[in-house]
Amino acid sequence: MTEAKIEAWLEEDRAFAPHEEFAAQANAQPSIYADADRDPVAWWRQQANRLTWASEPTTTLEWELPNARWFADGTLNASVSCVDVHVKEGRGSRVAFHWVADAEGESRTITYHELSRQVNRTANALIELGVTKGDRVAVYMPMIPEAIFTMLAVVRLGAIHSVVFAGFSAEALASRILDSDCRFVVTADGAFRRGAPSPLKPAVDEALTSCPDVSAVLVVKRTDGDVGWVEGRDHWWHDVVERQSDVHEPEAFGAETPMFIMYTSGTTAKPKGIFHTTAGYLTQVATTYHYVFDVKPETDVCWTAADIGWITGHSYIVYGPLINGVTQVMYEGLPDSGGRDRWWKIISEHRVSILYTAPTTIRTLMKWGHQLPASFDLSSLRLLGTVGEPINPEAWMWYRKNIGANRCPIVDTWWQTETGAILCSPLPGITATKPGAAMRALPGIYVAVVDNDGNEVGHGEGGYLVVTHPWPSMTRGIWGDPDRFFDTYWSRFPGKYFAGDGAKLDPDGDLWLLGRVDDVMNISGHRLSTTEVEHALVGHHAVAEAAVVGASDDTTGQAIVAFVTLKLSAEDAEKDQARIIEELRQHVSSTISPIAKPRQIILTPDLPKTRSGKIMRRLLRDVAENRSLGDVTTLTDPTVVNMIAGLMETHASSED
Ligand code: WTA
Repeated sequence: MTEAKIEAWLEEDRAFAPHEEFAAQANAQPSIYADADRDPVAWWRQQANRLTWASEPTTTLEWELPNARWFADGTLNASVSCVDVHVKEGRGSRVAFHWVADAEGESRTITYHELSRQVNRTANALIELGVTKGDRVAVYMPMIPEAIFTMLAVVRLGAIHSVVFAGFSAEALASRILDSDCRFVVTADGAFRRGAPSPLKPAVDEALTSCPDVSAVLVVKRTDGDVGWVEGRDHWWHDVVERQSDVHEPEAFGAETPMFIMYTSGTTAKPKGIFHTTAGYLTQVATTYHYVFDVKPETDVCWTAADIGWITGHSYIVYGPLINGVTQVMYEGLPDSGGRDRWWKIISEHRVSILYTAPTTIRTLMKWGHQLPASFDLSSLRLLGTVGEPINPEAWMWYRKNIGANRCPIVDTWWQTETGAILCSPLPGITATKPGAAMRALPGIYVAVVDNDGNEVGHGEGGYLVVTHPWPSMTRGIWGDPDRFFDTYWSRFPGKYFAGDGAKLDPDGDLWLLGRVDDVMNISGHRLSTTEVEHALVGHHAVAEAAVVGASDDTTGQAIVAFVTLKLSAEDAEKDQARIIEELRQHVSSTISPIAKPRQIILTPDLPKTRSGKIMRRLLRDVAENRSLGDVTTLTDPTVVNMIAGLMETHASSED
């Protein structure tokens, strides 16, 4: 979002005060901020009572920058807080998930009691396959209930899951398996996408050719396709899991036991294995789910429309909602599986009351027209959320009016894989919201906007977002790379966590996020680094050099534009341009993921470089955005950039 747009909206002074009726019933009452401020660490200790402890902690925070330990001497089992406790306390017959398949008409209803049995069976099966405490288990699965059974079973054993988004390539999967030395993989033969089966197991088989230490692969049968099979290594879920006992006695583990690793893109080609530990993470996802989404477990039906392959799925499909004991919708398909009105059908059919999604999806639904949601009964909705990228005011207003009937509060939640849970968001019933602003830090969380020197900026000014105090669900590090952890997040502004996001305080002091300030792109809410995509491009035999930038895109927020020089002669390249471009796009898609496919590839004989040989991405960004070019005096050859700008105009965009 541009600053000019923010200014324009602010001038109109649009802030939406909370509804009195909502406010009266809200989980968060206005005193909550002051309560937390009095003693934030003690406040978090109180919130930790949301968990089921085997032995309660007597310590709260131990902080030695950049290493935090929360509730460290307490012991617990994560899956007990999510599942067993509900059965034990008489909530076993409550629905945990209404699972809705890609195909209309196919669904499954899973109560907490059933969830408990399935998690126990899965845990027993994993034990049989050799999984023990501390082992890493890669999960490469579609959005099916077995993915959740697996995650909960893994943590039940004190093992560590590393869920890899099923849209990632074999190569991306292999590098993640190797980085954290996963010895087990849980997957499915395939997934469904708009009615068509799409195989998954071949990617696993291909990945495992370079991962010899993986000893067992557990495979859910989801489609009817034939699959390759390695005897002794591969096991069908229905052979191994279904015959297990549905009783499993949970062991209690220390509060700081690593729970999961989630790979995310940083500013280098190598994704970072962000890892989270148990009690601090669970405390904050449970607390934020309770207050930010205002959940009433007896009556709400919650739908976090995300994939378990990302942090949003971990925190707000699996752990946060389950600790709160809510009923959820879990949806396997795409927004237009079975038709562009599919979402509205799901909401009206299941009486969804809380919907959480990403701006990019809202913009897509918006493009499909307000008539579609208007023809369904969406009156069950009472709160809307958004996450993943700055939401433009137009999309926010559309969401509010057409989905929320001008009645539902919208929570624009800012957080990251590294933060584990939401850090900044309005609180429904308390905060008057502004379209496109995350507004402020949550109770017990302390952030600031600072300038280049680390000094806090005043109201009306912009800078970098930092977090000034440790928080329970903060990542405990990058798997296997403590130095990189310190350098990336804690060295830029001493004593403060550097998030990598630009932010602005408006004249009222409210917080607006402005997007990344580093080489991380945000494509449809997915994080990708420019170097990662460049790396994939230079991996192609025809490519000499590549520079990648993120350019604004009306639907996906940002889109990838790549500038590529080829090893071929200009003449040969010219002849075959369209084919080469398509081949390169496919190459990136199969090396990383279809998400990483460049929207546009510009073949150019040269790239703009500084005299010290660095590619000037800033200029390429200007070119890609059609902005007027800034200072080019440090370039070795200023004519290069004008030539590229010319090429941009003449090349037809190769958009899908
Ligand atoms: C961006 C997703 C503006 C931001 C939970 C952050 C946002 C990155 C918002 C993290 C928001 C996330 N407003 N920007 N409400 N939420 N972002 O790790 O740039 O996939 O640094 O975590 O997404 O992406 P990640």
